[in-house]
Amino acid sequence: MPNQSKGAKTMKETKREIMNSMRLELDAVSSNESFARTAVAAFAGQLDPTVDQINDLKTAISEAVTNCVVHSSTKSVLIEAKLWRESKKQGISVTVTDFGIGIANIDKALEPFYTTKPDQERSGMGFTVMQSFMDSLAVCNGVDCGTVVEMTKVFGTNRGA
Ligand SMILES: Nc1ncnc2c1ncn2[C@@H]1O[C@H](COP(=O)(O)OP(=O)(O)O)[C@@H](O)[C@H]1O
Ligand SMILES: [Mg+2]
Repeated sequence: MPNQSKGAKTMKETKREIMNSMRLELDAVSSNESFARTAVAAFAGQLDPTVDQINDLKTAISEAVTNCVVHSSTKSVLIEAKLWRESKKQGISVTVTDFGIGIANIDKALEPFYTTKPDQERSGMGFTVMQSFMDSLAVCNGVDCGTVVEMTKVFGTNRGA
């Protein structure tokens, strides 16, 4: 019964309850990278994550914001975060948006070691790091903006169950 299972999936998705949200817009300068990761980590702290989970989150936010500063030619970076709860799981979803040039080839950009700035000693591992430190990652070019990176980290006790 394909229709029923589709409906069941939609119902499951709608069970996610948003408990808190924040928006932060910053000048796209490297001095704001540490502020951005610390601010998101402090917000996530409301869900009582482990030290490892917070460190993973900080690393991923750092990589995303650094990319905006280094690659996008944007003036500002918009960070939006939501704390959510779904069944026995809870976690944080974060979008990092810039208003710059966008990514020419997203599939290539996501490949390990791919960088368009090898001359500036970029490793090409930013997206790979984000992928491995978070539970999900999605990247797209926006209509009214440059690039949107959306990431989720699950803090629930039943993680992986
Ligand atoms: N916000 C962005 N705007 C434009 N291009 C980006 C952005 N983020 C990433 N890119 C592109 O994706 C490539 C891969 O990014 P990443 O994996 O972080 O490696 P690195 O930053 O070391 O180059 C970058 O070299 C760049 O071409
Ligand atoms: Mg990078």
